[in-house]
Amino acid sequence: MNMNPSSAGANGLDEVVCGCANLTYRSLRQLLAVEGNLTFDDLLDRTGAGTTCSACLLDLEYELTAQNRETAVDDIFTRNTKRKLSELFPTSRHRVFRWLDPLLPFVSTHLQELLPVIAGPEIKQHLRICNDHLLFDKSIPIGTVQADIVIRDLNGANRHRERCIIGAGQTLDMELSQYLPMPQQGEVLVVGSATVRRRFLKLGVRGTTRPHYSIDLPLGHCTVHVQAPSGHEQRRFNFLSRPDEDRIFVIVNNANSRPLDMELSFSSEAGERQCSYETSLRVPPLGARVAEYNANVAGLADLKGQPVQISARSNGTFKTHLMCTDKAFTRASIDHF
Ligand code: FES
Repeated sequence: MNMNPSSAGANGLDEVVCGCANLTYRSLRQLLAVEGNLTFDDLLDRTGAGTTCSACLLDLEYELTAQNRETAVDDIFTRNTKRKLSELFPTSRHRVFRWLDPLLPFVSTHLQELLPVIAGPEIKQHLRICNDHLLFDKSIPIGTVQADIVIRDLNGANRHRERCIIGAGQTLDMELSQYLPMPQQGEVLVVGSATVRRRFLKLGVRGTTRPHYSIDLPLGHCTVHVQAPSGHEQRRFNFLSRPDEDRIFVIVNNANSRPLDMELSFSSEAGERQCSYETSLRVPPLGARVAEYNANVAGLADLKGQPVQISARSNGTFKTHLMCTDKAFTRASIDHF
């Protein structure tokens, strides 16, 4: 399947969108230009595309809806300016963003995120903030970003504090794990937390500097973007029970300056059988705690291959992440919930 159908524009019109019906992008677009009201079913009937192996259905759908979006945007623009957008800009995506970029206000954004910091003998965690120019109109300048980063250990004590200035086009890359103590004997990892406060020093632009972090282990690495802490609501997440292959860690970061009580429940069912267990954590102010999933409790180990639902409830604001590693702790994946 062509993963980027819009790239068929300009030079790619003779590419085939449906191999089974030998339909090119050029023929498809000509048909859609003439018959703007075609439904998706009409399109399949008329061309025979998408009706054999079905591999092209998403591409066909994209082309059909792109045509509709183009027409809708043109209608609005023409009403307001008496000029057609298609006269000015080559593709529908360009047209939409060229139109939006100057309209959306520049804002001086103040944002704050909370993330776990993980360290161990063979674990390195990096924080990255990219201040890239993502606007279609490159003549619009992007601002300089100030990032205040505080790294705390599991009890919430400050370990490192730094103010970073990230100019337009620059990327901040900071190794966070170096600021945490190494695990004690018998532990595979230690956790802490980091807060990132970002603001544009001048008026900024939307959506260009969300931080992300990566965790490197000997045989692999994983990465995820960071988020603001969540409120009191219950959070849920599912993972597959594979106790012979995986280790599952739930990492809780407290966003409050008072202790946080967190109730974690793990439950699974197969047919008539239901198993669950609960565990609670008291997380110090601004601190972090980790709970490892124990499949041997309440018979969950027998439900191999079944989904296990985690539910997290607390009396304050927090951030929860789930990290899955192999038994040897050589590779991992992580996500927030
Ligand atoms: S590629 Fe279109 S139906 Fe097979």
